[in-house]
Amino acid sequence: MAAARSLAEAAVSVLAAAEPLEKLRLTEAADAAWRDGRIAVTGDAEPPDRPARPVRPALVPPREVPRRRIGPAPGGRIALLHAVAHIELNAIDLAWDLIARFGPNAAEDGLPRDFFDDWCRVAADEARHFALLSARLAELGAAYGDLPAHDGLWEAAQTTADDLLARLAVVPLVLEARGLDVTPGMIDKLRRAGDEASAGILEVIYREEITHVAAGERWFAWLCRRRDHEPGPTWKALVGQHFKGALKPPFNDEARRAAGMSPDVYGYFTGLGS
Ligand SMILES: [Fe+2]
Ligand SMILES: [Fe+2]
Repeated sequence: MAAARSLAEAAVSVLAAAEPLEKLRLTEAADAAWRDGRIAVTGDAEPPDRPARPVRPALVPPREVPRRRIGPAPGGRIALLHAVAHIELNAIDLAWDLIARFGPNAAEDGLPRDFFDDWCRVAADEARHFALLSARLAELGAAYGDLPAHDGLWEAAQTTADDLLARLAVVPLVLEARGLDVTPGMIDKLRRAGDEASAGILEVIYREEITHVAAGERWFAWLCRRRDHEPGPTWKALVGQHFKGALKPPFNDEARRAAGMSPDVYGYFTGLGS
């Protein structure tokens, strides 16, 4: 394929690639081209409604995704690492979709270069996370695609396709923040099962995900200032409107605070009884 002429075009090429290895390769190339200043943001690139994906894994309702006890036998650990790998693959597409969908309106929102620096870095991090998990799955005799997975993350992308502020409110600030809440428990279980290698990978992911939530918080606040909205009430309203699940405590206050989130804001949802 010819080299992309713009960042938006490069983002669409990642979304159009079905095979994970190709997504990874194109992600690295796009991130490097952006960092080297070889491409500008805009181009006439239309992101697809859904990104291309490999034939496997089969996508099923969440309750049909296998969950097994994490222990010395590899089955449970493979199921966990497979589920996280699926989240990372979605996260690669979510970062590029954000760039491709909202980047061409950059002039309207006045989005500065830093905005794209942040989301390119996030895409590159997610690609590395997927690669680490794939390599670990291979060591355990498994591969991404072996187990079914669910489609909840992409649904969140579709319900926020019309507004960058809603996308930021839900994807980094609900879904990725939720990852911060649950990852330390996964790391503990893997460690108790004696799987130091998998625990170490999740620790790398956990540290970097704090910076992704921080990027979400930073740009959400930036866009609120730009549009003259109060960030706290605006976030609550957008989450209530676009996110159908419940925000489940316990929250990882320490990690959320490190990402710049305020318990006064996200704690609001625990009192709703939903
Ligand atoms: Fe990630
Ligand atoms: Fe992330």
